[in-house]
Amino acid sequence: MAIGNFEEKISVFEKEAKEAINQAPDLPRLEAIKVKYLGRKGEFNNLVKELPGISGDLRAHIGRRLNSLRSDLETLIGEKFHKLKDESIEKQLKSEGIDISIPGKGVSFGHLHPLTKVERRVEDIFKSLGFSIVFGPEIESEYYNFDALNIPKDHPAREMQDTFWLKDFRSEDPKKNFLLRTQTSNMQVRYMEKNNPPLRIIVPGRVYRYEATDASHEIQFHQVEGLMIDKNISMVNLKAVFEEFFKKFFDKKKVEIRFRPGYFPFVEPGIEVDIKLGDSSKWLEVAGAGMAHPKVFRAARYVPGEWQGFAFGMGLDRLAMLYYGINDIRLFYSGDFRFLKQF
Ligand code: PHE
Repeated sequence: MAIGNFEEKISVFEKEAKEAINQAPDLPRLEAIKVKYLGRKGEFNNLVKELPGISGDLRAHIGRRLNSLRSDLETLIGEKFHKLKDESIEKQLKSEGIDISIPGKGVSFGHLHPLTKVERRVEDIFKSLGFSIVFGPEIESEYYNFDALNIPKDHPAREMQDTFWLKDFRSEDPKKNFLLRTQTSNMQVRYMEKNNPPLRIIVPGRVYRYEATDASHEIQFHQVEGLMIDKNISMVNLKAVFEEFFKKFFDKKKVEIRFRPGYFPFVEPGIEVDIKLGDSSKWLEVAGAGMAHPKVFRAARYVPGEWQGFAFGMGLDRLAMLYYGINDIRLFYSGDFRFLKQF
C-alpha cells in the first residue's frame, strides 16, 4: 500500500472520529462511538493492523502518529464524557427542581381549647392575688353537693339545679348517694374539712345540670368557685377582689361591677354579681356570691363566729363568651374545627 494513501486514510479516520465525538448527543451514544473507533475490534485497531506492512523508519513514524492520535481521541472522549455528564445532571436537576412559587402544604399546629385558655387566664390572675388553685371531684356525693351546703332534701333550692343522679349508686345516706356535681361549691366543705383558715382558694372545673340546652345553657359547663376565709374578711374584700379580677381579665377595659341581692342557701347575705363592659349599656350576670353561711362552717367543723369570709361561683363559659365575643355556649362543645381554629 502506498504510504500516501495510508496517511490519507489515517487523516480521514481522524477527522471522522473527532467529528463523531464532538457531535455525540448523549452518554450512551458517546460510548457507542468509543467502541466503534477505539474498541478492540474498532477502526483504530484496523489501522494498527496495517502497520506491519509498512517498512522501516516510516513504520516508526506512523506508529508514533497513531499513538498520539489514540491519546488525542481518548482525551477528546474524556472531555466530551464530562461535558455530557454535566449536562445530564443539569437536566435532571431542572426536572426535579423545586418551584418555590408553588404554595406549600400548611402544617397546622394543635392548640389549647378556648375554654382552657380562659381557665388558665383566670387561674393566673387569682394566683397573682394570692389564691391557690385546687380541683375537686366531678362525681360527688349528695352530701357535699347539697346537704353540707345547707340544702336539705326537701329544700326548694334543689329544684334550681336539676341533677344527674348516678343510678347505680343511689342510697338513703347522702354521703353514699352519688351524682354529677351541679356546682363547684361541692369543694367548699370538702376543702374546709381538711384545711384550717386562713384560706384563699379557687376551684375551676366542670359541672353538670339536667336541663334543656340553648344558646346560653349546656348540660355540662364550667365554674370557678372562690373561697376566702380569715378573721376579718367582708363584702368589701369580695368587691375588691372582683374589681381587681375583672380589670385584669378584660385587659383594663372599663368594667363596672354591680352587686344585687341573690339567694343561695350557703351564703348570707347572698348576691348576684353583674358586670358592664366598656360603653355597653347592658348588665351581664357573671357570678353568684356572698358571705359563707354559719351552717357551712359548722359542717366543716369550724367555730362560726371565729371565722368569716366570702364564697363565689363564676360561670367560666360565660366569661369566655364575653372575652372572645361568642354568642352560643354550645360552640365550645361542638368539636367544630372551623370554630376552634380561630383561637
Ligand atoms: N354555686 C352557685 C351556683 O352554681 C354559685 C355560688 C357559689 C353562689 C358560691 C354563692 C357562693 O349557682
